[in-house]
Amino acid sequence: MQQDFQYDVLIIGSGAAGLSLGLQLAATRKVAILSKEELNAGASAKAQGGIAAVLDQQDRLDNHIKDTLIAGANLGNPEAIQFTVEQAKASVDWLIEQQVPFTQDEHDATGYHLTQEGGHSHRRIIHAADRTGLAVSNTLLERAQEAKNLDLLCHQVAIDLITTTKLGLEGDRCLGAYVLDQNTGHVNAYTAQAVILATGGASKVYLYTSNPDGSSGDGIAMAWRAGCRVANMEFNQFHPTCLYHPQAKSFLISEAIRGEGGKLVLANGEPFMQRFDERLELAPRDIVARAIDHEMKRLGDDCVYLDISHRGRTFVQSHFPTIYQRCMDLGIDISKDPIPVVPAAHYTCGGIMTNQNGMTDIEGLYAVGETAFTGLHGANRLASNSLLECFVYGHAAARHIESHWQDTQLTVVIPPWDDSQVKDSDEDVIISHNWDELRRFMWDYVGIVRTDKRLTRALHRVEMLLSEINEFYSNYRISGDLIELRNLALVASIIIHSAQQRKESRGLHYTLDYPNTLPVARNTILTPSNFDWQ
Ligand code: FAD
Ligand code: SIN
Repeated sequence: MQQDFQYDVLIIGSGAAGLSLGLQLAATRKVAILSKEELNAGASAKAQGGIAAVLDQQDRLDNHIKDTLIAGANLGNPEAIQFTVEQAKASVDWLIEQQVPFTQDEHDATGYHLTQEGGHSHRRIIHAADRTGLAVSNTLLERAQEAKNLDLLCHQVAIDLITTTKLGLEGDRCLGAYVLDQNTGHVNAYTAQAVILATGGASKVYLYTSNPDGSSGDGIAMAWRAGCRVANMEFNQFHPTCLYHPQAKSFLISEAIRGEGGKLVLANGEPFMQRFDERLELAPRDIVARAIDHEMKRLGDDCVYLDISHRGRTFVQSHFPTIYQRCMDLGIDISKDPIPVVPAAHYTCGGIMTNQNGMTDIEGLYAVGETAFTGLHGANRLASNSLLECFVYGHAAARHIESHWQDTQLTVVIPPWDDSQVKDSDEDVIISHNWDELRRFMWDYVGIVRTDKRLTRALHRVEMLLSEINEFYSNYRISGDLIELRNLALVASIIIHSAQQRKESRGLHYTLDYPNTLPVARNTILTPSNFDWQ
């Protein structure tokens, strides 16, 4: 039996973006925050390195702005960058107020230990050892549990947005979302005056990723199907250093290890970054990941190595306790031995187009966090600018929602979810097979180094998969896996089309057919009405 739930504000996603937005509004509005899994199963709780902000007197806002622009290969939007960098300190102060236990340092004038990461010209990363995300997530979840007007609901998978356009009504307004309750198997309708997509990224589209399983681009796919423009989806960030070990599924080795002196070496111990960039290990991620990929392909090696052993056990254990322990559990003592590492898909730089208040193309619909495209990252995200973006835009969207609040009641009757024409699936193998196939060809053909031929191959395959998945979706009862696969295939298609439109190499998009960077930097903006697939 379908149930209808009415809230003032519906937030889809309980990561850093969704929680920081929800906490700002819960004092005045009735808020629901949905998560398709456990509340801290998204990327936010996995974040290691920290949050970038100009906190040190020696540092300048201009430096952070310049570093962000350079890392983004001059494609970032200067206004979005300036806005984010200027708001960074306020966001960090808010997190401190919420009682996030950042690592302290009595010798630093800020009172906190600031670490260094690739592409940053100063130490400006505030962190909680190497588990910043968990510290932030746990603290914000505690605050959310204390909030009176805020319902935290897990195992609720948003399927699609409900809009006036879809219902054949006037205007183009978001009214809510259909949501699969994984506990009961029922699809319910949630309505709200403001709906926020805070669903995270889409790196699960690649075979190897640092991301959790839920990073399937659901928000981008839902927004696309509702008619929102999506930008710069060809810029998929590959983190240079994920642990290479048969038993380690998607475990990141933080860039902060390189920030604290870690050296990248080949199997014979030879350093190689000097051949690629004068900033060596602290070059932006696209450059380091490509250098590693190049060396692995040149030598036919399965991985390269990251060596921090010269800093000694006490330093390594106190700065990187999580990484130290995880590696130790797998028999690698990182205070003595180099760590085997490979690049893996890490971050989706593009997303749903939003303005400085998180507003999308549809009235009442906002997008914040990794699912959104604000213009901050350009062609490559600067390390530790992502959590920052979640807080800055989460707060900006909350301010906008509150200051434009209208005391009106929803009068539209939402039609029930129609599953009268579907039956139970008899062949779930289609889901697992297509899931694997999609992620493998995306890795092989739309990965770190691209060509026209590879992209064409990928496009043929994704078109076949999309039609097979859409047919399956129309005929069989919905499940969490089917929802994710349908979204992943759509997002893969958007990535391939975006990559095909960019006839240059810039930042994370590197193609052998167009190795040069064009003099004028342009965003790739795709509009759903120009394509005949959904
Ligand atoms: P997430 O935290 O991914 O949350 C997404 C939420 O949406 C989840 O609650 C999920 O359940 C929910 N959801 C998704 N789809 C649906 C649906 N259909 N229905 C209902 N709910 C849904 N960035 C930094 O700045 N600094 C770092 O140190 C850093 N380290 C990182 C380390 C790792 C291993 C990873 C993977 C990322 C790291 N990043 C870092 C990136 C950063 O963590 C993410 O970009 C950021 O946390 C994204 O936050 P978010 O709130 O947008 O999404
Ligand atoms: C890391 O700790 O290397 C991740 C930082 C980031 O993704 O910004």
